[in-house]
Amino acid sequence: MSQAYIITIASEKGGVGKTTLATNLAIYLKGLAEDLPVTLFSFDNHFTVDQMFRLSKTVTDQHVGQLFTGSDPVDLLSDGQYGVNYIPSSRNLLEHQQQVTNVKQLAKTISRSSLQGVVIIDTSPTLDLYTHAALYAADRVIVPIKDAPSLENCRNLADFLIQHKRSKTVLRLLPCLIDTRIRFDGPFRNSYQLLKAYAINRGYRCFEGFIAKSPKVESLSTNPSGKIYPVITHGRHTEVHLQLTHLTRQVYLDYLAHGPSRLTEVANELFNQKKDSLQKYNLRVKNLQPNCLCCDLPVPETGIWPGAYFLENETGQFSGFIEENCLLELLLANFYPGLNSKEHQDLLQEILAGTVDRPFYLLQKTAINHEQFKIALFHLDQRGRKISGRSIKVKEPGRFQKKGQPNLLQLFNNAANGQTDQFQQLLIRQSNKQPLELLKYHNYLEWQTIFNRIQIDLTLEEDGDSTSASVGVHQL
Ligand SMILES: Nc1ncnc2c1ncn2[C@@H]1O[C@H](COP(=O)(O)OP(=O)(O)OP(=O)(O)O)[C@@H](O)[C@H]1O
Ligand SMILES: [Mg+2]
Repeated sequence: MSQAYIITIASEKGGVGKTTLATNLAIYLKGLAEDLPVTLFSFDNHFTVDQMFRLSKTVTDQHVGQLFTGSDPVDLLSDGQYGVNYIPSSRNLLEHQQQVTNVKQLAKTISRSSLQGVVIIDTSPTLDLYTHAALYAADRVIVPIKDAPSLENCRNLADFLIQHKRSKTVLRLLPCLIDTRIRFDGPFRNSYQLLKAYAINRGYRCFEGFIAKSPKVESLSTNPSGKIYPVITHGRHTEVHLQLTHLTRQVYLDYLAHGPSRLTEVANELFNQKKDSLQKYNLRVKNLQPNCLCCDLPVPETGIWPGAYFLENETGQFSGFIEENCLLELLLANFYPGLNSKEHQDLLQEILAGTVDRPFYLLQKTAINHEQFKIALFHLDQRGRKISGRSIKVKEPGRFQKKGQPNLLQLFNNAANGQTDQFQQLLIRQSNKQPLELLKYHNYLEWQTIFNRIQIDLTLEEDGDSTSASVGVHQL
């Protein structure tokens, strides 16, 4: 099934004719190609779209804001006059802007829906998150310009497109509200010609023609019925009617000639990202050590497994799970030797209780000489900052070796996988009841962010930076 073709009408300058253009273009397109599904909605709060297209007084609950809350766009459509489908406007878009969490959100939502034909999006005169989302999704951005300042504002639109790896040619400028009575001497005889020359000079593409300023057109939005009338029905004798007809033909030809649509690109990108992250996840699962890194008992492959910790080394090549009891014993035996059983219990409780705001442990091995090492244990907060630490010196072979249970050095040796690394780090975090969840895309990204943070801290420490995170680390 083909994807919808998105036309976004945008300009940072207010009152340049965006909404008039969006609404009329929808109707003219229907007039030109009756079978073409045309959908319209506006991220502005003027309700012009509703006043022009609403068939009955019945108010629906659907509105454009729901495009960002997981609704299928098709479920938000209302049948409008002139054969145009529209999504009702919303008065509260600004308040709900936090729903727009990602510039790709709108494109993804529409690409997953069965919306067909042409979708026209009217935007507000600010480059807010809604406008960004509409620009990101657009096959074509129509920019009405009425004077030199509105032309200068195009730069922000072009920058946005370039920033998102799109071509500036997605933009098509259209001189609007042109007062044809104003004439100049010289090569450019009116403001349309002048604007067009400026635009081309700055590397923009323009539609052929322009939209003139017409008192008749202006009057279509103010009349006793409270409705807003389109040019096609109430302004047929104006030059704007001919200009809109000419413009619509260009827009329609563009639509017919377009290659893979923007939403197809977005959908493919989405598919590839998913495929890629699934492959990476599978690889992470495949690389996991099959058994508990301490007691060597097998780790259940799936399902619920309470009391597990996940461990990975700094290269990401060694990873696995440790049972909670194993880890706590390993840490207690090495870092708190000589505790009596009551102290031991109390400390265990304390460590377990502390994992809420100190969810990460870092074990760090540094060589002192060829057989002596310093091993440090750090508690890290949710952002990977060291908040407390303790270190011991160990000799090869390790001190507290119990039968069948690897000591700290063995754990490091296993992680080094035969390589004689002098410096090693093992990051450990308590996992939830489904250990493999930790390896899923977003969770793993968080994990990597923490590891990166630790590397940055380490570099600062080596450089002797006084702001280094190790400053202020107190004894565990
Ligand atoms: N061709 C035209 N001739 C005369 N008046 C026009 C024409 N097109 C639009 N107008 C009028 O200009 C005003 C601004 O138009 P419109 O609301 O379409 O601009 P806009 O860019 O959407 O504004 P905003 O940025 O506030 O959303 C309206 O009063 C409208 O009726
Ligand atoms: Mg508007």
